Amino acid sequence: MDPLQHTKLGYAKDLPMGDMKVVKAGDREILLVKLEAGIYALDNFCTHGGCRLGYGKLEGETIRCLCHGSVFNVRTGEVLGGPATRPQPTYNVILEDGEVTLAP
Ligand code: FES
Repeated sequence: MDPLQHTKLGYAKDLPMGDMKVVKAGDREILLVKLEAGIYALDNFCTHGGCRLGYGKLEGETIRCLCHGSVFNVRTGEVLGGPATRPQPTYNVILEDGEVTLAP
């Protein structure tokens, strides 16, 4: 069982629509992205070389890593453009009383 299950990551109302925010959960950094379709959570460290995706560029449902230009789907973590070859880890989040919470 993931010890970070049910970790609260902040209030949904504090996340800007169409933008992203980095939060800490234990020793991890999680990138929250709020879109019209929902709130998504990815690991903040790019699978290519470890750069922080939070410094990247959000373009609709994709995020481009600033270091070497890899592009990931925000919702699924799928690699849409290299050089990254491994998908970006994602986390399921749920809303509990308005708070974004890591799902079991
Ligand atoms: S570290 Fe992200 S593309 Fe290289």
